[in-house]
Amino acid sequence: MKRIIATAILAFSWLLSAGQDKDFYHIVVTPGEDASTSVTINYHTNHLYSYIQYADVLDISCTRYQFIKPVCELWSTKDIENTSTSSSFYTNDRFVCHATITDLQPGRKYEFWICCSASGYFAYAEGSGSTASRTGSHVEAFHPEVDSETCYFTTASNSKEWNFVAFTDFQSVPNSITHQLIRNMKEIGNNPPLMVCSGDMVDVAGWEDSWTWLLDNDAFRDFVYASSPGDHAYWADAKDRKYPQYTEAHTFNHLFHFPQNGAEKSKNTSYFFYYNNALFVSLDMNNSNISRGEKFDDQARWFQHTLDSLKGTYQYLIVLMHKSVYGSSIIDSNVGKYISPQWSPIFQKYNVDLVLSGHDHVYSRTYQLDGDHKSTIKNKGTYYLDMGSSGNKRRAVDTSLSESDGIHAKVIDLKTKELSFAANIQVSKKKMIVTVYNQHKQIADQFTIKAKRR
Ligand SMILES: [Fe+2]
Repeated sequence: MKRIIATAILAFSWLLSAGQDKDFYHIVVTPGEDASTSVTINYHTNHLYSYIQYADVLDISCTRYQFIKPVCELWSTKDIENTSTSSSFYTNDRFVCHATITDLQPGRKYEFWICCSASGYFAYAEGSGSTASRTGSHVEAFHPEVDSETCYFTTASNSKEWNFVAFTDFQSVPNSITHQLIRNMKEIGNNPPLMVCSGDMVDVAGWEDSWTWLLDNDAFRDFVYASSPGDHAYWADAKDRKYPQYTEAHTFNHLFHFPQNGAEKSKNTSYFFYYNNALFVSLDMNNSNISRGEKFDDQARWFQHTLDSLKGTYQYLIVLMHKSVYGSSIIDSNVGKYISPQWSPIFQKYNVDLVLSGHDHVYSRTYQLDGDHKSTIKNKGTYYLDMGSSGNKRRAVDTSLSESDGIHAKVIDLKTKELSFAANIQVSKKKMIVTVYNQHKQIADQFTIKAKRR
């Protein structure tokens, strides 16, 4: 018995420090504003000098390797109020790095490594002038002292026939079902180049071990990833659950660098990007569980201004927002009070195709709604999909959700059935088909969204 406990403690200790033992950790590829030509590579490292080497996997020329110098910031959570002092985010200063590559070819697979070579690279790069610019293609002249494992991403192809997979609320703690669900969806979606999530990736954002478990794993590799933040992105510590503990999404913003085209007060947590014929918009519904009556005026203005200026440039409009406009009002009454009245008319005005949400940990999917009502007009209306959970935290259906309310077409109790969900979304010129799978690869729901725009 003692041996089992000792082994368990050892394994747990390893898990807590696994990411930090690597030279480069929390490696994630996020989309640029146009994901057919641009991505951002994000990572943490303890090395002062690092750079990224990348190449088109099909390019066999001798100058195929390009390299880019990242923007790096020395960071820990020490100076942040309410932070968790026992988290390695607090105890370990590290360099948080990102590099945005902007001149990629559409529909191509790229490989990359993160390298460290203090003596060679910076002597060469000195004088290049830019903090994140390509500095040359002669990396064979340098000999990295250490490098990361090989990682991959594929740019958007500009095709009108494509697919992506969607998750919500991993709310990861080690040993959750999330990695298996991601592997399942890679198989079902035939290695989709894009994965999106509608927030709450970890239970407590200030605890680095949860991020390490989620991100530093083979399952979380080789795709472009986008997520809106959830309320748990604002959590610092599990000891004192007064919300929100952080006033900003500090760890979210130091793990993921998204296009900096969002609302002024929520840059990086609100943003948009193009992926083929779709425009994705992330919103930050952060003021959970507080009753200060705050609305999202800054983001509402930005959303409308952005969509006015981008009119005619996309066929499908997909919103990622953690809290569901038509979700459970019992679990979080702020959804009903503050979110629905403000956002439902806006989504109606811009004829949003699909809103991907979470937060409730109950599955709910609406009919196509035109404002607050089931749409009766062809090519008008929005589907609201709250998949509930792509992890192990599940709730039973409450009285605020019902398949007979004229709003919800499907409501599923995840807790009783111990289900976790993710979706494969197939996009074509005429329609999007959304298929929701459980962790047993069984179809739980399916619906079709007809194209409203050419
Ligand atoms: Fe949430």
